[in-house]
Amino acid sequence: MADLNLILLGPPGAGKGTQAAQLTNEFGIPHISTGDILRAALANETTLGKEAKRYMDAGELVPDEVIIGVVLERIAEDDARDGFLLDGFPRTVAQADALGGELAQLDRRLTAALLIDVPDDIVVKRISGRRTNPRTGRIYHVDFDPPKQEGICDEDGTELIQRDDDKEETVRTRLTVYHEQTAPLIDYYDERGLLCHFDGTASPREVHAHIRSTLATLKLEDEL
Ligand code: AP5
Repeated sequence: MADLNLILLGPPGAGKGTQAAQLTNEFGIPHISTGDILRAALANETTLGKEAKRYMDAGELVPDEVIIGVVLERIAEDDARDGFLLDGFPRTVAQADALGGELAQLDRRLTAALLIDVPDDIVVKRISGRRTNPRTGRIYHVDFDPPKQEGICDEDGTELIQRDDDKEETVRTRLTVYHEQTAPLIDYYDERGLLCHFDGTASPREVHAHIRSTLATLKLEDEL
């Protein structure tokens, strides 16, 4: 099959990171999360991290000119030669255009845009209960996916944290930004015949099964 170049779209808290963790293992493609890249830059106090901090803390988008170059460089790396799963990028039409242009230059194309859709009220509930392993990025939820021991990662015993931008007020700003700047990408990819829609209110297992079967169908169609 041709390379599997995927993007995950959806509001904050839709479950993009949760689904990406499993899909990248199964399909052998790297999970490229711009949120994770920016949080790592912030923790390491790099120039990128310092520049991104004020936007992330406020729930606003980091400027296109800051993030586009980072992603285009990342997808050109060796491990992304057979495909990638982009999570959190593109988030604006300018980012989508830049990605499309770069792929065309590399003689590659996007396979699909996977939209995980969840209403705003559910997003707020989900995000308030999210806990993350700051070392590995493993995601939990205090009610829907709790660790065996409260506050501790099952996999490596690291103490779980709540993200700085997960305060309710910041989440509401992130939702507004999503509807204004990122949701237009739903029509953008639909018009290009690339949009696959998933009901993100189902359980993580059901969402995963649905995405998997869609990707299997896309692979079959590609081989015909
Ligand atoms: P980013 O890290 O990308 O945040 P986001 O898009 O807001 O997405 P989240 O990570 O909050 O949610 P998710 O959909 O991954 O949900 P999760 O799986 O964790 O971006 C952060 C910031 O970085 C941005 O605000 C911006 O400033 C900047 N940034 C990043 N990319 C950028 C770009 N391209 N351009 C400009 N700026 C950029 O799930 C959430 C919770 O729900 C978890 O607790 C999970 O356990 C639970 N859960 C998941 N699925 C289910 C389910 N089906 N049922 C019940 N619970 C579930």
